[in-house]
Amino acid sequence: MDSLQMAHSGPRKKRPRQMGASMASPPQDIKFRDLVLFILEKKMGTTRRAFLMELARRKGFRVENELSDSVTHIVAENNSGSDVLEWLQVQKVRARSQPELLDVSWLIECMSAGKPVATTGQHQLVVSVLVVISTVRGLIKISPYACQRRTTLNNRNHIFTDAFEILAENCEFRENEGSCLAFMRAASVLKSLPFTIISMKDTEGIPCLGDKVKSIIEEIIEDGESSEVKAVLNDERYQSFKLFTSVFGVGLKTSEKWFRMGFRTLSKIRSDKTLKFTRMQKAGFFYYEDLVSCVTKAEAEAVGVLVKEAVWAFLPDAFVTVTGGFRRGKKIGHDVDFLITSPGSTEEEEQQLLPKVINLWERKGLLLYYDLVESTFEKFKLPSRKVDALDHFQKCFLILKLHHQRVDGGKSSQQEGKTWKAIRVDLVMCPYERRAFALLGWTGSRQFERDLRRYATHERKMMLDNHALYDKTKRIVLEAESEEDIFAHLGLDYIDPWERNA
Ligand code: CTP
Ligand code: MN
Ligand code: MN
Repeated sequence: MDSLQMAHSGPRKKRPRQMGASMASPPQDIKFRDLVLFILEKKMGTTRRAFLMELARRKGFRVENELSDSVTHIVAENNSGSDVLEWLQVQKVRARSQPELLDVSWLIECMSAGKPVATTGQHQLVVSVLVVISTVRGLIKISPYACQRRTTLNNRNHIFTDAFEILAENCEFRENEGSCLAFMRAASVLKSLPFTIISMKDTEGIPCLGDKVKSIIEEIIEDGESSEVKAVLNDERYQSFKLFTSVFGVGLKTSEKWFRMGFRTLSKIRSDKTLKFTRMQKAGFFYYEDLVSCVTKAEAEAVGVLVKEAVWAFLPDAFVTVTGGFRRGKKIGHDVDFLITSPGSTEEEEQQLLPKVINLWERKGLLLYYDLVESTFEKFKLPSRKVDALDHFQKCFLILKLHHQRVDGGKSSQQEGKTWKAIRVDLVMCPYERRAFALLGWTGSRQFERDLRRYATHERKMMLDNHALYDKTKRIVLEAESEEDIFAHLGLDYIDPWERNA
């Protein structure tokens, strides 16, 4: 049993005594023998450290003056987990088994309790999953979880990530989930790298890169392209699925059907008299040209004004926040996503808002399509175990008519004839106390969200979804006022929205 587990197993098991010269208090004063603390001076300062050491010793804790291999708990202040890890790596003494890295808040709680308190995600500074790799630019740390990586839009490895995204998409079309995930994870980790991969040596130690992925990287380095990607791009099934799913309302099932029926072009499908289309697909075909040309940032901002005007007409205290790709700083998107929440509304007012907004737009002639999905949210329901579970908030998938004059004050280029553009908009309404979870969930990216949940489940024994966070060990629901609170509960360094482009 290592010291980490011993620290968790309570004060019953005795660890062998170590009467080093560094021990200040006589052994009989030590009440909690399973814990050996070390307090980090860095950023805390000598005086405060001395004070905390003295206090802890008086309360019966064993506190070491120097780092030694018997230390089980390292306490730090104003240091991130990565800071402490870095400090540890340059120390001559290595901790034999991984000590817990804790924030000073844990020690303070112990002091007021007069005994060791259980360590939680709020106290823990670092997780053991960070991989440190040596690169030409020195040591860097890479986590296999996207939620522990800062991924901006500055992707230095486009030639590789484009390839893996095509391969992932092809696997998705062929319903090969395992390979799809492997390619998406590879693309995601490469997007976060602070350098461009030039040789195979650069890939050493990077997590999420399996043999298959590495062989493709090698081929791209050598030939400038991957034969497998080339084959996929020329593949009839891939091309057809890509085309069919570009229509709003067309998913894998419909694409499969049309492909099997022998369709290869949209015009043939559109003009076929025997096919039945859903309301969504009809709208998808009708506004196809507008919807495939991406939404620009200026258009997204103009839509934001429209949404706020409508929402505030009914709930003046509501918060309207842009989420999705635009919140992550993207310059274009396939739609514009908004989260709406109101601190002062009753449940009924909350439930009535989206229908009222839709009604208003309909009267103004701005509503081209809508699908209102009623809430199935239950207050006391625990978070879902599924990584890709849908959420239960009331939401509306729309196509709005955006007049050109509303974009950039009408300065933007006017097409002859048509004075507007059809824009896909998603609106989500959530109870005020759930806003942090909903915001985190709707900001994405999808890969970032998947890894947040995977991390919560596997590294923290918690369950996270768009509504709540549940601690399975303590059997409590954890509340949050902000995204920062959720990251803190999970023991993660906060990642800003523009760093979530995993
Ligand atoms: N989302 C969700 N439940 C859904 C749909 C979306 O939780 N039913 C979340 C996803 O996590 C996603 C985010 O909302 O990351 C935004 O979804 P989407 O608009 O599809 O993706 P974007 O990241 O905004 O990309 P794009 O710019 O193409 O719109
Ligand atoms: Mn979006
Ligand atoms: Mn969306």
